[in-house]
Amino acid sequence: MSLTVYRKAHFNAAHRLYRKDWSEEKNKEIFGLCSNPHYHGHNYELIVGLTGDVDPETGFLIDLKILKNIIEEEIEEAFDHKNLNEEVPEFANLNPTMENISIVIWKKLRNRIDDKFGISVKLYETPRNFVVYNG
Ligand code: NI
Repeated sequence: MSLTVYRKAHFNAAHRLYRKDWSEEKNKEIFGLCSNPHYHGHNYELIVGLTGDVDPETGFLIDLKILKNIIEEEIEEAFDHKNLNEEVPEFANLNPTMENISIVIWKKLRNRIDDKFGISVKLYETPRNFVVYNG
């Protein structure tokens, strides 16, 4: 039997979706408003799920303070109020779509969280557009 606990977090960040090897027209056609050369921001909502077994001693799956601190250090400090393209090394050569952002978040968390837990990353780029990445 396993269960999943969730922690919500939030960050604001700017991005631009484009490919250097495509023309301005093609970037606009494929990425639409998100290809605006002057960047634009999103209010990202992040929900991190950890799946595993309840520790019979504490009754916890994980002390949520620990998960909160890892999310703050790895994600919020790295992404909040940043220009993802320009200031976050992972996106120097990777389009900061919500899909790629969720994969980067998952990898950063995987480095910090015990292998006995499964990790699920749900990322909302807008209230209606979101992605789930489970590794
Ligand atoms: Ni956008």
